[in-house]
Amino acid sequence: VRAGLGRVVAAMEDPNPLVAGRGMAQLAAAGIATQSGLLAEAAHEMNIGFFKRMRHGTPWVRLKVAASLDGATGLENGESQWITGPDARADGHAWRARACAILTGIGTVKADDPQMTVRGIDTPRQPQRVIVDSKLEIALDAKILQGAPCWIAAAAPDPAKLQQLRAAGHEVLVLPNAGGKVDLPELMRELGRRQVNELHVEAGYKLNGSLVRAGCVDELLVYLAPALIGAGQGMFALGPFAQLAHKHELAFTHVAQVGADVRLMARFLPHKE
Ligand SMILES: NC(=O)c1ccc[n+]([C@@H]2O[C@H](COP(=O)([O-])OP(=O)(O)OC[C@H]3O[C@@H](n4cnc5c(N)ncnc54)[C@H](OP(=O)(O)O)[C@@H]3O)[C@@H](O)[C@H]2O)c1
Repeated sequence: VRAGLGRVVAAMEDPNPLVAGRGMAQLAAAGIATQSGLLAEAAHEMNIGFFKRMRHGTPWVRLKVAASLDGATGLENGESQWITGPDARADGHAWRARACAILTGIGTVKADDPQMTVRGIDTPRQPQRVIVDSKLEIALDAKILQGAPCWIAAAAPDPAKLQQLRAAGHEVLVLPNAGGKVDLPELMRELGRRQVNELHVEAGYKLNGSLVRAGCVDELLVYLAPALIGAGQGMFALGPFAQLAHKHELAFTHVAQVGADVRLMARFLPHKE
């Protein structure tokens, strides 16, 4: 107002209920012409996590999977590195970098001992790492626990292990569900309270399936390699459904070739089951 502007054009109103519409109202009261809605869709996409958290209290959850053309994410013996090529892996790191937090499961930690950091991409900060591990089976020397404190979601933690992890600087969130596993919707609410706008998931088929069943996933980021693996681990532990009508439906939003692989993006439609 003090700068004496004549006209202000905004992309969108701030969805934060604490401020929504107030800035524009103040400008209008000071006689400044205001308009909102310019490039609104692009602005929404850029801030999709913030909008999701303001409206629902939970992060925008983008789940990444790398699979063969016949849908396998690994061999039956667990070998899964690498199904897709270097370009797809680098692209995956760019998606990790834009997320506030990266979530994985204890199955993946045990099988691959991943770091779950952003590498090979300029980033001002590393995303917060989150591990779903009901019984706190994670090894203290697991690579993911090195470098920065992690948040570990547990259900029935062993008290001695809990103390060890806390002494090493990690945070353990005890969020049990009725089945003795981690309550995933409650974890999403907790991440929302911790201001996580975008959550990037890189987990195995078990946690992927549970997240989808619980309605926690907004978007899939799938890299498909031009290879057939045959019997192996799938992308999601789901079903079996009695009827096709129970399927989880998505809409493709984007298709691109990345190196030798294809990147598909799809968003979930409301589930009818
Ligand atoms: N290709 C890819 O994109 C990709 C990406 C990541 C991993 N992988 C592969 O996936 C394999 C591991 O798969 P995975 O399914 O065993 O591992 P996972 O999905 O990473 O972790 C599964 C574990 O999470 C724990 N958990 C806690 N609460 C849960 C809940 N509510 N629902 C489901 N799980 C819950 C369970 O163990 P507790 O009950 O003991 O906590 C469960 O066994 C590895 O071979 C890895 O290489 C592939």
